[in-house]
Amino acid sequence: MSYRLDLTVINQTDTESRFALTLHNLGDQALEAWSLAFILSRWIEPASVSHGVLTQTGSYCTLSASDAAALAPNSHFYTEFSIKTPPLSLHGDGVIDACLYANQQGEALPVTVTPVNLKNPVQDRLTLELPAPKTINLIPAPASLKTLAGEFRFTRHTALAEFPEAAQGSVNWLQQELAHWLDSPLAIAPSGNIHYQTRADLADGAYHMLVEHDHIWLEASSGAGFSHATASLLQLLPAQPTHQIEHALCVPMVEINDEPQYGHRGMMLDCARHFHSVTRIKKLLDQLARYKFNTFHWHLTDDEGWRIEIDAYPALTEIGAWRGPQEPLLPQFSTVDRRYGGFYTKQQIRDIVAYAADRGIQVIPEIDIPGHCRAAIKSLPELLVDEADRSQYRSIQNYSDNILSPALPGTYTFLTTVLDEVCELFPAPFLHVGADEVPNGVWTDSPACRELMAQEGYEDPFELQGHILRFVENYLAGKGKRMLGWQEVVKGDKVSQNTIVMPWMNEQAGLDCADKGYQVIMQPAQYTYLDLAQGHAAEEAGANWAGFLPLETVYSYRPLAELEPSDPKLKQIMGIQCALWCEHVYSQARFEYLLYPRLLAVSEVCWCPPEQRDWDDFKARLHGQLSYLDRVGLNYRQG
Ligand code: ACM
Repeated sequence: MSYRLDLTVINQTDTESRFALTLHNLGDQALEAWSLAFILSRWIEPASVSHGVLTQTGSYCTLSASDAAALAPNSHFYTEFSIKTPPLSLHGDGVIDACLYANQQGEALPVTVTPVNLKNPVQDRLTLELPAPKTINLIPAPASLKTLAGEFRFTRHTALAEFPEAAQGSVNWLQQELAHWLDSPLAIAPSGNIHYQTRADLADGAYHMLVEHDHIWLEASSGAGFSHATASLLQLLPAQPTHQIEHALCVPMVEINDEPQYGHRGMMLDCARHFHSVTRIKKLLDQLARYKFNTFHWHLTDDEGWRIEIDAYPALTEIGAWRGPQEPLLPQFSTVDRRYGGFYTKQQIRDIVAYAADRGIQVIPEIDIPGHCRAAIKSLPELLVDEADRSQYRSIQNYSDNILSPALPGTYTFLTTVLDEVCELFPAPFLHVGADEVPNGVWTDSPACRELMAQEGYEDPFELQGHILRFVENYLAGKGKRMLGWQEVVKGDKVSQNTIVMPWMNEQAGLDCADKGYQVIMQPAQYTYLDLAQGHAAEEAGANWAGFLPLETVYSYRPLAELEPSDPKLKQIMGIQCALWCEHVYSQARFEYLLYPRLLAVSEVCWCPPEQRDWDDFKARLHGQLSYLDRVGLNYRQG
């Protein structure tokens, strides 16, 4: 360990903390012309830095000595700075990664980063006792489940009977899952004893399932219902595989009548802050389908990465998909010393969409505009930079150059070209346009924006946000797509009630949108943001800007609970989503640790009306599901 970086809280109030940052040279060589690069997500007040020259772009900070003095062996460089923040409580809020450049060499020198020295670190771990598993451990709990005596046994003669076309995806999925268990693929034969059958009297998404000694009946009126029946069948399989006939695969005999509370049950995955491989996404889709989610909301673009191939603009993925010390986009969140990134080709996207469709999941792409657009702007400056704009702003992630201009013709060329290609790739009748977190101050000092405001009679600069979004809403409508956006999509008051809103800051945002007549998909951070830490201990993975989010809190969620059960506004809730924002998700293990087991609680919250939920019963069924999570090798939080 030649170089070490320590961050210590020296003072804190409810709104501001002062830190000491110390770089130790523990080697035997002097560091000439050194520059430290480190990752810290909070904004360091520039005027508060006591020693050295500090720069910050997003979470990427650099520090060097003001007098360019060398750092002698066995000495250190010390500086202090302030951050306007409530007291930190998690190590993840400190420095995440660091490296050094020195001695006129371009090569990064590794720096050991010690966990931030917090003022009042919490030691305790929130733990959870799980009751014994039940005999049948379905999650989400079905509306009605009757256990019958006996079991269905898979043999060499087990086969699928002829099935309706709407069950084709489910058949594909079932065959793929059973391939892990059976010596030969599950055949399709007239004499088959697994029957997918249409029952027109069932609601869309509902299913009836009967497992008898010699037959399995899966009945539904739509592909959605067949998917849900298949998910239940897969959950009835034992957790441990065997190919030995004496331990043949058995399913307990049951009768289930079931249907979802909400038509929309989703998960959003941020693929911009950290990139997730196709393999990781498919493994996630397997789990989403198993737990009866029907929507994968794919956050494909953000300030820190553009992840979708667009034929018309190769620069979006040649430039915008990569971060690095020498790239137009600097490192962020992790990997401070190297090039990092990736994107999905159109072929990979089609493959994922088809894989999801077989599992009853629609994929809704998100192209986040007009904020969170830094990767696009850096890739296509000739189209997207308003050179005369002198507006001063800083986004929540510390950028001052990440918002599209509503007054540039290039913005609309960019949007229509990208949307044409995105709409062509994704069959879902929805497209998400983000619309979140456009900061105050934007567009105020741009002659072109001022002219547009005058021309349109706008008084508030945020009407310009509405101006862009209304354009996109109409453009999408022309392609038969409905626009979705985060709660700020209604800011500027220009989009119609055809737009679907995802309130995320709190429940009140959902109530406000429902009051204004919008349909909503509830996603309040306090219950559904799975990037929030699950416990209070300093080393717990995740963030806590909206509090901590233990399993029980997720399970307790009741959307718009303030309303009387008879309030018609409850009908405006189309469903619920959870989200995994990925600033903190720099490994597969973390990805899974943040998702599991909370994803299973979200599943039940989406599917079962509150009066049908039972926390103790859920915990027992969760216990039953853990052996499955173990079998497929998922890393989940224990307790
Ligand atoms: C969001 O969390 N910015 C939607």
